[in-house]
Amino acid sequence: MIKLDDIDFSYEEKTIFKKLSLTLEKGKFYTLLGKNGSGKSTLLKLILGIEKPKNGEIYIDNINLRANLSECQKQIGMVFQNPDEQIVTDIIEEEIAFSMENYGLESKAMLKKIDELLLEIGFEGRNDEKVSKLSGGEKQRLCIASALALDPKILILDEATSMLDPHNRKIILTLLKKLKEKGMTIVLITHHLKEIEYCDEVLLLKNGEIDFKGPKELFNRLLTKGLVDIGLDLPVAFKVARDIYLRTEMDLSEDVFNLNKMGENLWKSL
Ligand SMILES: Nc1ncnc2c1ncn2[C@@H]1O[C@H](COP(=O)(O)OP(=O)(O)O)[C@@H](O)[C@H]1O
Ligand SMILES: [Mg+2]
Repeated sequence: MIKLDDIDFSYEEKTIFKKLSLTLEKGKFYTLLGKNGSGKSTLLKLILGIEKPKNGEIYIDNINLRANLSECQKQIGMVFQNPDEQIVTDIIEEEIAFSMENYGLESKAMLKKIDELLLEIGFEGRNDEKVSKLSGGEKQRLCIASALALDPKILILDEATSMLDPHNRKIILTLLKKLKEKGMTIVLITHHLKEIEYCDEVLLLKNGEIDFKGPKELFNRLLTKGLVDIGLDLPVAFKVARDIYLRTEMDLSEDVFNLNKMGENLWKSL
């Protein structure tokens, strides 16, 4: 669905990617991890055609980005960190309509599509409510609906959950998982360990290179000494568990997704 082929990219003197190749498959949920400044947003800008590689080709759904920029951009919905910087109107329905207006949908089709999207994000019947009355998490769900308005095949979220509390993050993650089950390709940039368990694959961006890991494999690596600094916020419970693990070499690998169970097993062993 997204293919990068031998990409070279620099900002003036600063090289960000050198011969980077990457293939993301249709219908998979990826999280992208990397320290601040590692080039995550730059990678997205290349995929969106906002920045151009010096060498190499990018394909979106088998279309060459250089050859057909607008067709490629139509395949991608984007959600950013701060919903207030993305939202342009003050009525829920108008906000979604705004994303569709430039594409000349007739109004009946548009209203039908708006209702479908509101249902998708759990906002059924809330068409006329004021956006300014929504919570941060609700606003971010609305941004997802707007991003989906033109039926993209790919949804990319650049730290879109970072301003939310755990409850709202969970609602968003559950929504993303549901979208993935319907065939959407998802790329989520995050710093939260808990969000990784929802994805199929973790992409680790370091020194301009990308390494793939299954989420469980990554957890295991975090538990053992070979921990790399990849800009993840580790919950205190995880750090404590890891400390004990390193001292006792208990096998916690079956519990890596479940901090409560990990804690229980550790408690029993004391
Ligand atoms: N427009 C730009 N001009 C010059 N340097 C930039 C520009 N945008 C980003 N950078 C630099 O490129 C590196 C990667 O940035 P970015 O892709 O934003 O990283 P991330 O999203 O992982 O935090 C950083 O060192 C950043 O300072
Ligand atoms: Mg960034």
